[in-house]
Parts: sequence; structure tokens; C-alpha cells
Amino acid sequence: MSKQKIIYSCTECGAEASKWAGQCFDCGGWNTLVEAISEPKKTGRHASFSEKAMALKTWSMTEVETGEKVRRSIGMTELDRVLGGGLVQGSVVLIGGDPGIGKSTLLLQGMVNLCQQTSALYVTGEESLQQVTMRAQRMDLTAPELRLVAETSVERILEIAASESPQVMVIDSIQTVYTDELSSAPGSVSQVRECAARLVSYAKQTGTAMFLVGHVTKEGALAGPRVLEHMVDTVLYFEGDSSSSYRVIRANKNRFGAVNELGIFAMTEKGLREVKNPSAIFLSRHEEPVSGSVVMVTREGSRPMLVEVQALVDESHSPNSRRVTLGFDQNRLTMLLAVLHRHGGIAMFDQDVFVNVVGGVRVTETAIDLPVILAALSSMRNKPLPNDLVVFGEVGLSGEVRPVQAGQERLHEAAKHGFKKAIIPAANAPKKKIDGMEVIAVNRISEALDAI
Ligand code: TYD
Ligand code: MG
Repeated sequence: MSKQKIIYSCTECGAEASKWAGQCFDCGGWNTLVEAISEPKKTGRHASFSEKAMALKTWSMTEVETGEKVRRSIGMTELDRVLGGGLVQGSVVLIGGDPGIGKSTLLLQGMVNLCQQTSALYVTGEESLQQVTMRAQRMDLTAPELRLVAETSVERILEIAASESPQVMVIDSIQTVYTDELSSAPGSVSQVRECAARLVSYAKQTGTAMFLVGHVTKEGALAGPRVLEHMVDTVLYFEGDSSSSYRVIRANKNRFGAVNELGIFAMTEKGLREVKNPSAIFLSRHEEPVSGSVVMVTREGSRPMLVEVQALVDESHSPNSRRVTLGFDQNRLTMLLAVLHRHGGIAMFDQDVFVNVVGGVRVTETAIDLPVILAALSSMRNKPLPNDLVVFGEVGLSGEVRPVQAGQERLHEAAKHGFKKAIIPAANAPKKKIDGMEVIAVNRISEALDAI
């Protein structure tokens, strides 16, 4: 094998340099140059025009053969649904999450189910074979068919895979895998990128379904370059509050299904258990109404779920008042407070505002806007809202309350859990009355403020 040339490429702009430097000469980014292997340029003869025209054929969709994509059930409906109805043959799935959240546990359980239908290989780079086996024993899992190997060299992993030819493979984790051809340490950007590229190309060539486990950084992004997310077919995030036993798995990108579908699990002594009916698990009902707390109905994926939004508004003692959010976008909070000021006449510029979505869930849909505003106001005035009230609705910059998807379904879910009042966008108001539910439909944020 000819010795491959090492170059340095910029993770921001993709420029290449032959020597390492602290600053990219092209885009000027600092510390963005990482080691990479240069591909020898293919020098072909210049083809004549007619020859080129032959090679450059285009296709109509009716001429393209798609073939049947085989989907395999992993034996856990929550995970199957997040994947879009099962694991697609030849697809590469990246699972990210904090350390200790349960990625290895989830995949071990999944592989134990899968190895009963097909050949499965579990490559562990973080734990020894004894640790994996002991974990399986603790969870009462027996799977003599599951092949295990403790290996971190990508070359050897691919050799093992080629000789065993498994249909499903797990690499736990991509940060521990390395190639000898790069001198940087395992887990560095260049190693992660190069190893992932090789594993992905193996999966595509052989039609092997592959799970890659990835760690997340403090900021919550997958460690390693964003290119990792581009290379794979599906990116799943496994998240949850370490103090609670509930875990949420969410698709962030999916070439074979919808994104924002949620799968919910509970961590028990015997591993992860599926939560089939999760609609109220994140709700902590207070006996007495408390100020700063609003229950909303969110609908991430295909199921409505009740979650509690809490706000704390407190006098600020520093020149820069703080806006802190957990489970919700901070920029959006700043925007909502500006809308509240302009269109509701309530200023919070001298107040610290904290917003938390209870239970470690993250709400990414805009239906949380109105609940956040009402929770902040309730905390500032120290006036509790009724505890049988639910709220949802998007708020626009001109103070209008905009409808959200599936308003009816959300209201029915709330009614099922005994809520009696709802403040919702006028366009979501039900045509037929819902039994035992008083609906206050609002067009503008000022109407919502009047209603409370
Ligand atoms: P693990 O799957 O090792 O996390 P990751 O691979 O994401 O780093 O999960 C480890 C945690 O899960 C650990 O804190 C203990 C807990 N756990 C249980 O509560 N019950 C179990 O049956 C198992 C196997 C783990
Ligand atoms: Mg692990």
C-alpha cells in the first residue's frame, strides 16, 4: 500500500494546507485545522464530447429502481417509531447523549432482540467484554447468538466485520475508534471523521445496518465535527434528567422517517423499560396552585404530552438582567419578553427571568410561547394560575397569537387528564364543545393577559 499523504484541512471552510497552523489562511478561523488523509487526485484523459455525453446520462424517476428497503423491528416499539418504523438495512444511525444516560444499555437490549432474527455484532471500545456480559446478566438478558468484540482499531473492526459479515453492528463509541494512519489521538476531530467515513462506507457497500454511539459536548452537540451528522442517515439524541428515571429519544435527522418523533423509556434496575402511554409522566401536579407554573400540551412527534412550564421572575441586582432557560430556546425567551413589553405593556428589563420545562424534557415547538409568557407574568405578579388550566399557542412579533398543529387533539388530551380550562389560539378553537372544558380562544396576547 502506498503511503498516504497527511494534509491539514479546515473544519470551518474546508481549505487544505500542507502544514499545521494556528489560524486558517483562508477563512481566518483559529484552531480549525485538523489532520486529514489526502486522496490522490484522479487524473483521467480528456474524453471527447460524444463520449462524455454517453457517461453523463440523466434519469427520470420512473426509470429509477428503488428496490425494497428492508425494515427490521428492534423489538422496542418506542425505538422503532423514532427510526420511522424499524431499522433500515444498510442505514447508519448515530446515537448521541450524555455519559451515563443509557446509550450502551439501550443498544445492548436492542441487539439482544435483533440477534434472534439476524446476525449481530457488538463492538465495544469503552467497556471490556466482561463488563458487557455482566451488564447483560444483571438485566437478565441471554443471547448466545450475539457476537461481541472489544476493539478500537478501525482497520481491525472492518476486518472482523468482513469475516463475520453481520447484518447489524454497533460501534460503542465512535470516539474510541482510531486509525493508525493519523497521528492524532482517538476522539479528536480528524480521527472521528476519518473512522466514521470508513465505517459508513463499509455499511453502504455491504448493506449492514450500523449504530454509532457518540458523546455529546457540554453544549449538547455531538462531539466531533458536524460532518458526522451529514455522513449518517439518522441522528438520534438520547436525553433526560439525571435525577429522573425517564429518558427521551428523539430523531434529529432521519432519511427514512419523520423527525421530532419521541420515544420514551424509563431506566429501571433491569435496564430500560418502554413507556407506552407517556402523556402525563412529566407533569408534577401541585395540590395548591403555585405562581409561575403553567401546564401546556406539547405535541412533539405524533403524540400529545402534558408538560409543566415554570418561570421565576426576580428583581435583578446586576446591570445585565439574566435570561436563563432549561428545555427551551433562550433567544426565544428574549423575544417573547420583548413582545410582552410592546404588546402587553409589561416590562421585565430590570428582572432576572428563569424558565424551566419540568422533567428534563426539551420543547422545540412554538406552542410553548404563550405558556412561557403566562408563567413569567404569574411569577412576576406572584399570582398563581388555576391548576386546572392548560395553555398552548405560538406568539408572533406583532403580538398576535397564532394557531398550532392539532389543537383539537391537544384539548382532548388535556380533558382526559382532568383539565377544565384552556387558553388557546382562536384559530384552534373547537367547533364542537368539549365536555367539561371551558375554552378561552384568544387572537392577541393582550386578550390572553385579560383572560387571566
Ligand atoms: P450506560 O448505558 O452505561 O450509559 P452510556 O452508555 O450512555 O454512557 O448507562 C449507565 C447508567 O444506567 C448507569 O448510571 C446505571 C444505569 N443503569 C440502570 O439504572 N439500570 C440498569 O439495568 C443498567 C444496565 C444501568
Ligand atoms: Mg456507554
